[in-house]
Amino acid sequence: MKMSSLFASLLPLALCLALLGHSGVDARGARGAHAAPFVIPANASTADLVAAVCGTLNRKDLCLSSLQSVPDVGSAPDVGVLAITALKVATSNASDTSAVIQGLLNDTTLAPTVQQALSDCADHYLDAVEQLDDSVAALTARAYTDVRKWVKIAIADADGCEAGFQQLATGPNILSHRNLIFRQLCNNALGIVKLLKA
Ligand SMILES: *[C@@H]1O[C@H](CO)[C@@H](O)[C@H](O)[C@H]1NC(C)=O
Ligand SMILES: *[C@@H]1O[C@H](CO)[C@@H](O)[C@H](O)[C@H]1NC(C)=O
Ligand SMILES: *[C@@H]1O[C@H](CO)[C@@H](O)[C@H](O)[C@H]1NC(C)=O
Repeated sequence: MKMSSLFASLLPLALCLALLGHSGVDARGARGAHAAPFVIPANASTADLVAAVCGTLNRKDLCLSSLQSVPDVGSAPDVGVLAITALKVATSNASDTSAVIQGLLNDTTLAPTVQQALSDCADHYLDAVEQLDDSVAALTARAYTDVRKWVKIAIADADGCEAGFQQLATGPNILSHRNLIFRQLCNNALGIVKLLKA
């Protein structure tokens, strides 16, 4: 009767709202922390994939420049290859900083406090290289939790190096820029690993 005709006239609206509500949830889910799988076209080139992946990261330009060395595998490029490359770039950056620190430590005119801070940084960066080497192995084994744990320890190493210098107050930290870039390289790698896990 009256009720059922009211119901009948509201039914299309209700269905409409239900559908809208549903697609709204999907849209939020795609952008949320537990994002939907990262989808790339089946025949995207390696360069397309690098651009798409770097586009999801905060340090897009650093990502693009550091992933220039991604091997071009032709068709079917793979986010896993990008993640491994990102970790290897961070590793070689940490090795490079280790070597720079060794060079700086060679200067016998440094104040003992600065020498101590540098020597702590040397330890931190040696550890960072080990953590990142381990994360490459873990990534190959798809042990993403270990990858994240070890990359975060490497980031903490850079933070430890930075903190040691901040306590000195002897002018600008000669390693600050390197600490910063290294941290960003690690965070980019973590961002790419996150896409893999989704
Ligand atoms: C593959 O890429 C080419 C050129 O980029 C495009 O024209 C074509 O439609 C794509 N094919 C598929 C199946 O996406
Ligand atoms: C590591 O990063 C520093 C700071 O940007 C840069 O000067 C250095 O060339 C990089 N080294 C490698 C091997 O990536
Ligand atoms: C340290 O100094 C010595 C002597 O000047 C030099 O031969 C050596 O190559 C230096 N090492 C580094 C790591 O710079």
